[in-house]
Amino acid sequence: MSDTTATQGQLVIQIVAMPADTNANGDIFGGWLVSHMDMGAAIAARNLAKSRVVTVAIDSLAFIKRVYVGDTVCCYANLLKIGHTSMQFEIEVRTLSLQDDVSHKVAYGHFTFVAIDAEGKPQPVRR
Ligand SMILES: CC(C)(COP(=O)(O)OP(=O)(O)OC[C@H]1O[C@@H](n2cnc3c(N)ncnc32)[C@H](O)[C@@H]1OP(=O)(O)O)[C@@H](O)C(=O)NCCC(=O)NCCS
Repeated sequence: MSDTTATQGQLVIQIVAMPADTNANGDIFGGWLVSHMDMGAAIAARNLAKSRVVTVAIDSLAFIKRVYVGDTVCCYANLLKIGHTSMQFEIEVRTLSLQDDVSHKVAYGHFTFVAIDAEGKPQPVRR
């Protein structure tokens, strides 16, 4: 049974999965999905820190359901924690197909970003 409960997170990425994004089984490649989750978390982190940011850790990554070519893939960001220079977000991925009225939770992961200055050194999130 898939999770069709609406997320409370902020929509940060919305993209249609294309044939070029598939794995050897013909379904969407997990690495493609992670790349978009990372980008979505980066957008949320940049908006929060108002500075450059880098991914320092990805934890608790889980793929719950397969993603199909033609699905609309939506990444939602939930802020979990703000540290001194770091921020942790849960990224929830939900898909919508043309045949379906409700979205399904297909993946999630915890992404930690660090706010950095022009030299790439950590700087406080809240300055
Ligand atoms: C991110 C980076 C700037 C941190 O530099 P650093 O000198 O290790 O900084 P610190 O040890 O002071 O840690 C900075 C913050 O990151 C957190 N952090 C460090 N490693 C972490 C980890 N593995 N998991 C979670 N948080 C981590 C620290 O707790 C700290 O948070 P806080 O300031 O909120 O308390 C540096 O490690 C880096 O440039 N890494 C490469 C990032 C990158 O290229 N990402 C893309 C990969 S392709």
